[in-house]
This record gives sequence, structure tokens and C-alpha cells, in this order.
Amino acid sequence: VDISEDNSRVSASLPTGESVEVLLKGATVISWKDRAGNEKLWLSDAADLDGPKPVRGGIPLVFPNFGTTPDHPATSKLPQHGFARTSQWEFLGKSTSESSPGKGPSDAAVKLDFGLASSTVDKSLQGLWAHSFSAIYSVTLNQEGLGTSIVITNDGNEPFEAQVLMHTYLRVKDITKVEVAGLDNSEYLDKVDAAKAKTQSGAVTITGETDRVYTPAKGPSEPVVVSEGGEPVFTVVRDGLKDVVVWNPWVEKAGGIGDFEPKDGYKHMICIEAGCVRGWLKLEGGETFEGGQTISY
Ligand code: BG6
Repeated sequence: VDISEDNSRVSASLPTGESVEVLLKGATVISWKDRAGNEKLWLSDAADLDGPKPVRGGIPLVFPNFGTTPDHPATSKLPQHGFARTSQWEFLGKSTSESSPGKGPSDAAVKLDFGLASSTVDKSLQGLWAHSFSAIYSVTLNQEGLGTSIVITNDGNEPFEAQVLMHTYLRVKDITKVEVAGLDNSEYLDKVDAAKAKTQSGAVTITGETDRVYTPAKGPSEPVVVSEGGEPVFTVVRDGLKDVVVWNPWVEKAGGIGDFEPKDGYKHMICIEAGCVRGWLKLEGGETFEGGQTISY
């Protein structure tokens, strides 16, 4: 396993060719390629990789609030989607399993760990959330796919409430041919229709701006499968993350997002975002939350 690191990012590649690249800003995964070098994530051409803005594309990490939360006093001063995605994370190190004799390179894997704590949150946002916490975010690459998982600890004595979400921009060839399965019969909040509660029937297709917060009826272990033209292209399995946001800005919204480029990029992405964002996770002092996703193809 090859790993390279500089003061802005960490990259790793497996002997079989798969690779991943993680920016320290936000611990944002900005690239994930299969063994043939095909990019699996969508990243805007105008993404701010080294400035103050969150990255448009890849896998930004949403914590401790999803969206803006004017009705939740503890996080109401925080920007949309919290501070994790714009803070500098520390690279804590790697664990690798090299290929074993007899098996060839096919069983190699790598896990990259990143850390953020109250004291390392972006200085301009630090005072806006009054809680002491630490988080370890792990990005795991193997031949089957990519895993991201987070462990959040309440380091204080008082309880706190938080939301967390892995805002994954999956790359697709043609959004009009995409179907998302695994959400049938599930309740969702439709953010493009006054946040009304609705129930999904059948697979999800994208024919216009889509912004929905699903709580899959079959629970977190039910895979969410993205297919294109009938062929499964991604399978997302969640662990401890009960909700799934499905987002595509479509023509007008993409047009209004400054760092969304090219403007017709909405045709080539779908966000499938695993998280806990309906309601709040409550962590008592000293308590830990753990959640993650595995995306395979
Ligand atoms: C999604 C939200 O998770 O993120 C959308 O449900 C939002 O409402 C989208 O528009 C993008 O958010 P941002 O802050 O990255 O532009």
C-alpha cells in the first residue's frame, strides 16, 4: 500500500490500483478511484480545496448540525452543516494490511484515521458550540469499496445533542437513468415541498430538484442501492446511521450555487448521505457514538 502525505492531504493506493485522497480540511474525501482509475465520486471543478469554504463534492462531513438549526438553541449559531467540514483535521495515522503470501495483492487494505476536537475546531467557529468533544474519522479502502466511519466522544460532563452525516457525492453517468432502491415504504421529509412528511413507494428516480431526508423503514442495515440503466453501480450499507438524505440540485439550484461547476454537473452526481439528522443524537458526559457507511460497487 502506497501512502503519501503533505500538509494539506493524504493519499493512499492499493497494489491493485484502487486509490483514495483525503483533504485535511474537513477530512473531506475528494477522490476515490477503482482499480482502472475511474473516479467514483463527483467533485466540482470550482471546489474550494485550499480556502475557507466547504468542499463542493467528494464526501464532506456534516457535524454537529445538519442544515441550519434555528430552533435548536445549542447549535443555532453554527453555519449550515456545522464546523467539521471546514476545520483542519489532524492525520492520526494509517493501518494497512499488506497482501499476504499466496493471495497476491488482492487482500491489501488501508485505513486512514483523522482527528478533530473542541480545541482544534476552526477558530472562527470554536465559540459557537459550547461543548467539549473529540472525533475520530476513519476512511477505509479495499478492493470491494470505501468505508467511512466516525467515533464521537462527549469529553465533557454535561450531555450534548448533535447530528452527523456523510454527505457523499456519488458520480453517475446519467442522472435520468438512475434509480435508488432500499427506500421503499420509507417515510421522508420533502425539503423541496415545505418539509412535508411523505412515504416513498417504489424506487426513487430523479426528475427535478430533489432534497429528501429518508428514515428507511427497514432500519440501518438495509442497503441503499443506486443503479443506472438497471445495473447496480453503488451499494451503501450503513452502520448506526438511521437516516439517508437524497439530494440533487437539478438545473436551477445548481445554477445558483457559485462553486457548482460545470453547471450541468447535476447530471453526473447524486448525493446519498448516510447520517443521523432527523432528531438529535444525545451523548451523556463521557459517552461515545459510533456510525459509518460502506460503499461498494
Ligand atoms: C443537503 C441538504 O444535505 O446538502 C440540502 O439536504 C443542501 O438542503 C445540500 O442544499 C448542500 O448543502 P451545502 O451547504 O453544501 O450547499
